Amino acid sequence: MNTNPPVVYNFSAGPATLPTAVLRTAQHELLDYNGSGCSVMTMSHRSDTFMSILHHAEQDLRDLMGIPNNYKVLFLQGGASAQFNMVVMNLANGFERVDSVVTGNWSQIAHKQMGSLSSARIHLAAHGGERYDYTDVPPPETWDVDASSAFVHYVINETVHGLQYRDIPKPDGLPTMVCDMSSEILSRPVNVRDFGVIYAGAQKNIGPSGATIVIIREDLLERCSDRVPDVWNYRSHVERQGMYNTPATYPIYIAGLVFRWLQAQGGVKAMEAVNELKARILYAAIDGSGGFYRNNVAAHARSYMNVIFHTPNAELDERFAQEATVHGLQLLRGYKTMGGLRASIYNAMPVQGVEALVAFMQDFQRRYG
Ligand SMILES: Cc1ncc(COP(=O)(O)O)c(C=O)c1O
Repeated sequence: MNTNPPVVYNFSAGPATLPTAVLRTAQHELLDYNGSGCSVMTMSHRSDTFMSILHHAEQDLRDLMGIPNNYKVLFLQGGASAQFNMVVMNLANGFERVDSVVTGNWSQIAHKQMGSLSSARIHLAAHGGERYDYTDVPPPETWDVDASSAFVHYVINETVHGLQYRDIPKPDGLPTMVCDMSSEILSRPVNVRDFGVIYAGAQKNIGPSGATIVIIREDLLERCSDRVPDVWNYRSHVERQGMYNTPATYPIYIAGLVFRWLQAQGGVKAMEAVNELKARILYAAIDGSGGFYRNNVAAHARSYMNVIFHTPNAELDERFAQEATVHGLQLLRGYKTMGGLRASIYNAMPVQGVEALVAFMQDFQRRYG
């Protein structure tokens, strides 16, 4: 029997493709993890075996990202969306103002949600939609921020609009930076010290959905009030070593496997080189199509993770997505409110996947251009 699955490339924005090697290891260990006689799915989160999985996952993430000792790492639940509220509940206590940078769909949602449980005013520090119709990101030096604000929140890579701060904003003169890195974490090196909080839903560059990474500078925990219920309280989670309640054990286990896979690839710096290559190949195909394929994002703000493009009309976009699926190139439709096409090319997408997409794009253009 041939057990090799057909070659299919999954361009979903998330839950996204995972390294085949990771899935094979998970398959191999599914019924009996490391001689324990149990699946990771069915063992107590307080067992020594799971505690060891959690400990190693955290340590490997620390090594990959160079997370300093004065930062805590949490694997929470609730997705990145829960963080829109948690950052305010925990960090804005006693402050008058939170600064918020809107650059696309997710920061717009964060902006609105941050206001829903905040006694602090959520101040719109910059709006990339009003300024650039979401084809560029407002430079940090134009953000209207106040150093005395609780923090400034921004999304470093806008998954839906295909926009990325390629030059990572630096904290000089900025309040504490709180950054949603959901769709680019571990795709390139960042200096964790520049941030007060980094958070990310796992389901793009880390593992399956269900776990949310929060990396938080220790001194910020002093801001967490006892009035914030424990399940939403960063300090409570840190004080109970991530075991305040049952963590998402299986997603954490897969995340740990992905971290080990990343180390085997040469770490985040090596990943960055591959990601740059993939993005270069795909944008070159769009720009070299004589206008058949379009991407309107300013060159310096084009996302290396989520590549948006359009054919000449919506009907052809739909035809493209359908025909691509038949060719094993899956989930290329753009976000529901955006239309068009989107190729998400996270860490686990091999260069061959992007080359296969480009070959299909060229063939499609020959037939419909
Ligand atoms: C940048 C960004 N932030 C937040 C979210 C929401 O994440 P979740 O569904 O984990 O709440 C997403 C989801 O795609 C995202 O891409």
